[in-house]
Amino acid sequence: MIAKIGVIGAGTMGHGIAETFALAGLDVKLYDVDDAALARARVLIGDELRLLVEEDYVAPAAVGEALARIVTTTDLAEAVADRDYVIEAAPEKIELKHDLLRRLDALMAPEAIIASNTSSLPLEAMAEALTPERKARFMVCHWYNPGHLMPIVELSFFGNMSAELYGEVEALYRKIGKQTVKVLKDVPGLVANRIQQGVAREVFSLIERGVAEPADIDRALKFGPAFRYATTGQLEVADFGGLDIWCVVGDNLLKDMDNSKEANPVLRTAVKEGRLGVKSGEGFFSYPPDTVAEKRRQFMRRLVHQLKASSFYA
Ligand SMILES: NC(=O)c1ccc[n+]([C@@H]2O[C@H](COP(=O)([O-])OP(=O)(O)OC[C@H]3O[C@@H](n4cnc5c(N)ncnc54)[C@H](O)[C@@H]3O)[C@@H](O)[C@H]2O)c1
Repeated sequence: MIAKIGVIGAGTMGHGIAETFALAGLDVKLYDVDDAALARARVLIGDELRLLVEEDYVAPAAVGEALARIVTTTDLAEAVADRDYVIEAAPEKIELKHDLLRRLDALMAPEAIIASNTSSLPLEAMAEALTPERKARFMVCHWYNPGHLMPIVELSFFGNMSAELYGEVEALYRKIGKQTVKVLKDVPGLVANRIQQGVAREVFSLIERGVAEPADIDRALKFGPAFRYATTGQLEVADFGGLDIWCVVGDNLLKDMDNSKEANPVLRTAVKEGRLGVKSGEGFFSYPPDTVAEKRRQFMRRLVHQLKASSFYA
């Protein structure tokens, strides 16, 4: 049974992964090359957990208890030597991941499992740095941001590991309350990001064509398809609507829809002009600096509400 967790990289994803495991009662060691990143992670984890208390999602005592379960360190051997499962959330650079994986392989117990939270690197390319024995204990476990609130974790089952070992990791994620997706082929973006990009491509195209204002397009998504998708997946929606109807509507609409192979010019122009969204104060909407912290908190609160609601239909 997997009980001791190691998390490598304490940035955007790593801190949320450590937080989630600790909140679920597991013992976590969080490693980063940078002391300041570890300190920031601890502050962020405390803030995020306190918001969960404000929203009545966890008990007040859970904050201190979860923080006490996380040991932070800049010593890689100390972080991983006694761990059953280590997930790396280090920067998305293949050379860096190779170096890290090679060191993890040497430092970790032979039976321990290594996972990568990579968003885009193929498993096989990463696994070149590992011994054949470890390759059979290596997988992608892809979390969504923010990790402590988004239920999904995509798990690779690409033929390099046994069904039994996969089952162990799947059980771990189910135990901590995540919804796992078993991905059978190593395609870029796995499942969820591909679905998201399909939607995003058409949304950006609608902006480019001036079909509706940004607020209306987002409203159409939130209160149209996404409203259903939160409770009922696309395939079930299609079954309810009738596959004959989806077939006809597909034939009629798809020929008019965006099928480009690269990011929309609307995005490229915005990037060139320095409109990067929240981080630059301007994107499709405006974010005056004095409103950003509250807007981020509101975003988190909405996800907590969604998380609570989803317990009824998960
Ligand atoms: N940000 C996202 O939305 C998101 C979502 C899913 C998956 N991912 C994936 O998760 C991984 C991490 O992304 P992130 O957004 O958290 O990055 P990040 O830049 O926020 O954090 C990376 C952390 O790794 C640390 N680091 C740098 N070199 C290191 C090394 N050699 N060993 C260990 N730690 C090191 C950095 O100090 C930093 O704290 C990437 O593989 C990324 O593709 C990101």
